[in-house]
Amino acid sequence: MTARPLSVGLAGLGTVGGGVLRLLRDNAALVTARAGRPITVAAVSARNRGRDRGADLAGLRWYDDPMTLAADPALDVVVEVIGGAGDPARALIMAALRAGRPVITANKALLALHGAELAAAAEAGGTVLAFEAAVAGGIPVIKVLRESFAGNRVRRVAGILNGTCNYILSTMAERGREFADVLADAQKLGYAESDPSFDIDGIDAAHKLAILAALAFGRPIRFDDVHIEGIRDVSALDQAFARELGYRIKLLGIARQTEAGIESRVHPCMIPEAVPLARVDGVYNAVVIEGDFAGRVMLEGRGAGAGPTASSVVSDLIDLARGRKTPVWGADSPLLCDVPAVPMGAHTGAYYLRLMVVDQPGVIADVTCALRDAGVSLESMLQHGRSPGEAVPIVLVTHDTREAQMRAALDRIERLESVLERPSLIRIEHG
Ligand SMILES: NC(=O)c1ccc[n+]([C@@H]2O[C@H](COP(=O)([O-])OP(=O)(O)OC[C@H]3O[C@@H](n4cnc5c(N)ncnc54)[C@H](OP(=O)(O)O)[C@@H]3O)[C@@H](O)[C@H]2O)c1
Repeated sequence: MTARPLSVGLAGLGTVGGGVLRLLRDNAALVTARAGRPITVAAVSARNRGRDRGADLAGLRWYDDPMTLAADPALDVVVEVIGGAGDPARALIMAALRAGRPVITANKALLALHGAELAAAAEAGGTVLAFEAAVAGGIPVIKVLRESFAGNRVRRVAGILNGTCNYILSTMAERGREFADVLADAQKLGYAESDPSFDIDGIDAAHKLAILAALAFGRPIRFDDVHIEGIRDVSALDQAFARELGYRIKLLGIARQTEAGIESRVHPCMIPEAVPLARVDGVYNAVVIEGDFAGRVMLEGRGAGAGPTASSVVSDLIDLARGRKTPVWGADSPLLCDVPAVPMGAHTGAYYLRLMVVDQPGVIADVTCALRDAGVSLESMLQHGRSPGEAVPIVLVTHDTREAQMRAALDRIERLESVLERPSLIRIEHG
């Protein structure tokens, strides 16, 4: 006799919701075998009932209001793939969890901003909140961090967490093109939204990093602790210098345990071209995890799209069907440690600094004086040819320096008359 199916309510029938429907239908037999019982979508909710979903919805209960779906007592689980950090996603997840109904979500924005509240509701309701699809799409990074690395002290988690930014930066590097041109093409190809700010300003990567940092370090999730910079200011000139110096420019999310606490930051980085992360190009994502016993593990794959994201949602559904349960943030909320966040000014690392200066005697001396007075020491300097009286780029690479010292030097350098544009400062990261 076949076991009773796991009855799913799907709130959202867009890219991810449509993918979940398709996967559960196309791979029904193997999902049933692995879950120990069939997993069937019984109810759905979206805004526009008339829209062609490319899938047959006959026989499924339709709810115009996702709150009503969340309250349907015949459902075993609610899958929230509507998106957005506010309602209805937040309200429907809270309602389902409070009623003791498991929830699976791909909603990184909501988890990053309200993850503690959602975990408390799941614990109070004695139920499951799972979110493998929320970070890096098809890459199983949540399970690896929360389960495979459960016996490790994680030292660092770092990754390429936004496919749009990675596509733009790798295309700029390959083709020598400027940011705005490549962004416009990415929008035409559907790799970037018409309002791309969430992606290119680093917010989306920061949502994912906040989730990874909470799991990696067993601390309550705090989005406000993440220092965020996007990729708008990366130029073709910086890409060319990066290549010359043996680096690739990537937008990384990095969370690191330091003696003072946890550093978490999203910003463009120069990484040596020989390290594996430097070779992850196009829309691909990758995450590196370093544990005290496991050492270093790197996961790479598709960070978005219907198929990869549905694959992660369904892996959570199969866990649920099998009765596998893990606390939302790896440990029960009272056991999470409130490790302090380290401000960006305390970050220590090497820096790439590019200036456009007037080619005239004394300029380099003024710049190096500002660096010396702030306690910043130089590893190398690059200038090509001479154009007396004209604007020329010069590139300086520092030894390891505290961010606050670098900022102090930069303040003074920006005010020099011979410095013509806002300097470009990119942190160097070793992968
Ligand atoms: N797309 C990806 O590759 C990806 C990857 C990882 C995570 N995620 C996350 O997954 C979630 C969904 O993303 P998506 O790309 O699938 O979004 P999407 O294509 O825009 O789909 C959103 C769905 O939600 C429905 N919806 C919106 N507001 C609603 C409301 N008030 N009531 C009922 N239904 C409503 C829409 O209905 P209509 O269809 O009728 O408009 C649509 O079906 C987001 O949290 C996103 O961050 C997406």
